[in-house]
Amino acid sequence: MQFSTFQKNLDNWQGSSLIFGILEEEIASQLENIKFVVDPKLLLKKVTQKKFKGEKGKTLSFEFLDQKLETLIIVGLGKSKDLKKSDMENSIGNLIRKTVDKSEKISILLPWESIISKLEINQLAESARLSAYKDNRFNKNKDEEKVLKEIEFLNLKKFENISFDDTEKICEGVELARRLVAAPPNSLTPQEMSMQATKIAKDNGLEVKILEAKECEDLGMGAYLAVAKGSDLDPKFIHLTLKSEGPIKEKIALVGKGLTFDSGGYNLKVGASQIEMMKYDMGGSAAVLGAAKALGAIKPKGLEIHFIVAACENMINGSAVHPGDVVKASNGKTIEINNTDAEGRLTLADALTYASNLKPDSIIDLATLTGAIVVALGNDVAGFWSNNDDLANDLKAASAQAGEDLWQMPLQKSYKEGLKSHIADMKNTGPRAGGSITAALFLEEFFDKKIKWAHIDIAGTCWTDKNKGINPSGATGFGVKTLVQWIKNKSI
Ligand code: BES
Ligand code: MG
Ligand code: ZN
Repeated sequence: MQFSTFQKNLDNWQGSSLIFGILEEEIASQLENIKFVVDPKLLLKKVTQKKFKGEKGKTLSFEFLDQKLETLIIVGLGKSKDLKKSDMENSIGNLIRKTVDKSEKISILLPWESIISKLEINQLAESARLSAYKDNRFNKNKDEEKVLKEIEFLNLKKFENISFDDTEKICEGVELARRLVAAPPNSLTPQEMSMQATKIAKDNGLEVKILEAKECEDLGMGAYLAVAKGSDLDPKFIHLTLKSEGPIKEKIALVGKGLTFDSGGYNLKVGASQIEMMKYDMGGSAAVLGAAKALGAIKPKGLEIHFIVAACENMINGSAVHPGDVVKASNGKTIEINNTDAEGRLTLADALTYASNLKPDSIIDLATLTGAIVVALGNDVAGFWSNNDDLANDLKAASAQAGEDLWQMPLQKSYKEGLKSHIADMKNTGPRAGGSITAALFLEEFFDKKIKWAHIDIAGTCWTDKNKGINPSGATGFGVKTLVQWIKNKSI
């Protein structure tokens, strides 16, 4: 899908669906702005009949057959002084979702002069495209609907040479992440994920290394391999590297949990634990690969960025890990696996050790790690932990810019007690209370303490059952935008 602008005389404009935003102010003069498609006086009559005053979120639709416009949607933006960026993005998003099957092009005309300071036009474009996302890969009726190919902004006078290049690249990254997450577990296997990663690398000039089980064994990755061994599918350890041309100022590692399915293992997911949804247990790795795709295209300066995923499945067979097994991770620490369903942190233990050995300045990991974070923060906010205030602040700033909500959680040292084992250096699971905090504390054992680190638990945010804001129901691609923004902020 493309973004475009129409800057010429609007009398020459042609389109099929127009979204027209109106402020809760004097309506008649605002309607003059669409006189190029419809008689403002006639429209004023209709609008007055329907008692529409431009209230926030209110919409009116008109169908025009045999004219140059098929559908006109008027959306109320509320009072200019109360205008919020997120409200605007949400209402445009909701409208676009309704129109997406009906036309190949959607045009948008807003009172730009009143809103532009509150809204980066690129951010609106990004929200519009992400709201319009549709995934028809797995249903048979896909050819019956029209596919939205273009979002056009009318009359953006102040922005003659605006570029949507980065916005398109970021959207492609988010959309890739959504596709990876939504793919069922018999389609997106560890092998398939490694192939997708290889394609990202080949298309964008990244280095790619896929480590097979044997190589992981040679590196001593006993925690990761313990998780993988209950599956008939081979694990794939994915490592992509993006190096800027010229001098490197900073080295970064992005690590994602990549469980293409999490049955729980012998601590099987039963009852209301949503085992049938556990294809999305690779949401962290999807965010990392989505960011790799976006950044591979954006090519930030002065950075070396590593993208790391220890991909596998958590399944049950005769060789699966037993509850109670003791394994050794690649940094030499031993772990008593008192719960096979706390598998993500085991895979991350070896992925973080691998990342740490690359000696980066900072590591960020993303993972659908705990149900406890869903209880704590719900589905709109991801929890994050960091050992470094600068990194935490930069991440908060980036997530605010990106429109993804993060909430910082404590690395409460006293809870380490809960991970003590009688037989090994630690257990993989602490008590129920504070479960997402002990998970973060567990991860902290697996990299050099000098490295700045942040962990983002996206168990609640990587999926939405209903359309919400810029996210159509299904996979959200959460994390891609924050990661890309955080890195873009470094290369400014
Ligand atoms: N993948 C799950 C976490 C999860 C739960 C993600 C719900 C999305 C929605 C993870 O591997 C897991 O099973 N965690 C356990 C940990 C527990 C055994 C300490 C959990 O949260 O119940
Ligand atoms: Mg689990
Ligand atoms: Zn899991």
